[in-house]
Order: sequence, then C-alpha cells, then structure tokens
Amino acid sequence: MNKQRVLLLGATGQTGGSILAGLLDQPQYFDVEALVRPSSAQKDNVKKLAERGVKIRVTDIEGPTEELVKSLVGVDVLISAIDALSQLAQIRLATAAKEAGIKRFVPCAFITVAPPGGVMALRDSKEEVYQHIWKLFLPYTIIDVGFWHQLSFPTLPSGRVDYAAITRPKVDIHAGGSAPTMLTDLRDIGPFVAHIIRDARTLNKFVVTYSDVLSENEIFSLMEEMSGEKIERKYVSAEDITASRARDAATLKADPTNVMARFMSFSGDYNYSKYVRGDNTPAYATYLGYLDARELYPDFQPRRFREFIVELLDGKGEKPYKNKGFD
Ligand SMILES: NC(=O)c1ccc[n+]([C@@H]2O[C@H](COP(=O)([O-])OP(=O)(O)OC[C@H]3O[C@@H](n4cnc5c(N)ncnc54)[C@H](OP(=O)(O)O)[C@@H]3O)[C@@H](O)[C@H]2O)c1
Repeated sequence: MNKQRVLLLGATGQTGGSILAGLLDQPQYFDVEALVRPSSAQKDNVKKLAERGVKIRVTDIEGPTEELVKSLVGVDVLISAIDALSQLAQIRLATAAKEAGIKRFVPCAFITVAPPGGVMALRDSKEEVYQHIWKLFLPYTIIDVGFWHQLSFPTLPSGRVDYAAITRPKVDIHAGGSAPTMLTDLRDIGPFVAHIIRDARTLNKFVVTYSDVLSENEIFSLMEEMSGEKIERKYVSAEDITASRARDAATLKADPTNVMARFMSFSGDYNYSKYVRGDNTPAYATYLGYLDARELYPDFQPRRFREFIVELLDGKGEKPYKNKGFD
C-alpha cells in the first residue's frame, strides 16, 4: 500500500497532538502535514511542528471555498481535531474536502458515546457536521474515544496528584457512581487513529476506542488502594445533575456568547450522559452501530487506567491544556 498523505487540523492541540505523535511514529505508512490557521502560522508551537519535519499548510478554513479546495490538493486523509467550541467551522472544510477528492475525512468526534438529539449539545454540533458529510457523500470515519484518563481521576487529600489535575479538588461522585464508562488515555488516541485510517473496514463507519470500562466508584477505590489515602467523596445526585444542567442551558440560551456558560453546559451534559443515562458503554456503542477498536486491533494494547495511575502517583503525569490558564 502506498503511503497516505494525511493533513491534520489541530496538531498544536491536545487530541491533535496525540494524533500527530501516533502518525509520526509510523513514517512507513504516513506523510503527515498540518493545517494551520493564518493567525497561528508564526506561533512557536507551529515552528516546533516544522522542526519535527511536519509540512505546514496555512489555510483559513472559514475563507473562500476555492482557496480551501486548493489547499487540500494531494491529501488522501483529512483529520480534524478542532476545539470543542469551533465544530461548525468544519462545514466548509467538508465541502472543500469533497471537491478536492479527499479519500477519507475524519471529522472532529473524539468524545464519549451518546445519542444525537438533545443529550449533549457538543455531540449535536458534531452531528451537524456529520449530516453535512452524509449529504455530500464524502467518505468518512467517525472516531469516539470515551473520556480521557487525564480527566478521570479524583484528587487526593495530600494534594499529591494536584499537579496533573485540571480541577482541584475533584472528588465528586455522580448519580451514585455505579455507571460504567469507557476511558482512553489521551496518548493512545493517536495510535488508535493510525490503525483506523489504514483500515478499509472503518471507511464510512463509527469506531469507538477504550482501554477500560470503569465506574466512578471503581476509579475512586482503585485510587485509594494505590495511593493508600482515603478520599472524602462529594455525592451529587441525578436530580442535582439534571437541575444544574437545565440551569446552565438556560444561562447559555439567554447569552449564547457566554463561553464560561457553554463550558459549564458541556460539562453538565457529560455528567448527564455518562452517569445519569449511562450512555458511554461498549454495549450502547454497539447498539448505535459503532465498530469496537479493541476487536478490530486485538494486538494493540492501550495503556490501562491502572498504569496511568501508577505514573500519576510517581509524579509522571502531565496536565492537559498547559498554558491555557488551568493553574
Ligand atoms: N473525550 C474526552 O475526554 C475529551 C476531552 C477534551 C476534548 N475532547 C474533544 O476533543 C476535540 C478536540 O479538542 P481539544 O481539547 O483536543 O482541542 P484543543 O487542545 O483546544 O486544540 C484545538 C486545535 O484546533 C486548532 N484550531 C482551532 N480553530 C482552528 C481553525 N479555524 N483553523 C485551524 N486550526 C484550528 C487549534 O490551533 P491553534 O494552535 O491555532 O489554536 C488547536 O490546534 C474536541 O471536539 C473536544 O470535544 C474530548
């Protein structure tokens, strides 16, 4: 098989950074290029991409479609890992991808498994992009990953893992804590994507990745067992999750430009879908028609959540979104 020329949007981000590493790790299969917006072209992190041998294509994905089509020439696979707030900017990109004859578009999914239509606003904005893809008859693969290990651990009373936690303290148990939920280590998204985009079985399909399926109760017990510390749990009922989610949605409706309200609303939707409805499971993914990446690639062993906790307790974890004001 010839090498695939892959153009990646989001190479400087969290998900995109993992995908970039996963693809660069397999130079025998991929020539990797990065799509960068003009306002970021001179940034240090983009210069670092170039230093790693990644060719940069500077393009405004919200600019004229003809220009966008030109910038996609020669690309086999287009992957988008655009940030959560910018999903609809992919509509024009999909149109251009169709015109440019892209062989596979991987739009920005990479979230938990949930049904479309009012459960998660973030999911629904992604679904708008998927529907546009389907109208175009554009070849695609949609890849969801459960929730990252890096966002799924509770903090400890000693403060020992605070260095890697985005929110501190993080000791909430939602809706009783018994709902199982799929987890993937952020670093394994890239290797999974590298398998998936070389695989004809995943063309025009949904695929889900995960390393573990764990409830919050199981995660807290594991963390206590491995750290020797007792975590003071804060219980949040299903009713409270539902009520605060409705409040956040109302705040956002009153002011759709309120970015903080949007993030609160996304977070409430995740809690509602994962813990109240219990959507993020392999069984529900199969029901929705997803292929299971663990079954497709039995030889690839993703990092287990337990291994991640060992690293975390050893001080070797890494906080996501460094330099984004989470300190
Ligand atoms: N499953 C989970 O647990 C989980 C957790 C977090 C996020 N996610 C999902 O993962 C997806 C990616 O999010 P993330 O947090 O990884 O993203 P991120 O770190 O915020 O990075 C976003 C990337 O998109 C690029 N970008 C934004 N607008 C662009 C444009 N107009 N043109 C070109 N590039 C543009 C940014 O480039 P610049 O350098 O120019 O800013 C950056 O590289 C989101 O859909 C989110 O929902 C899932």
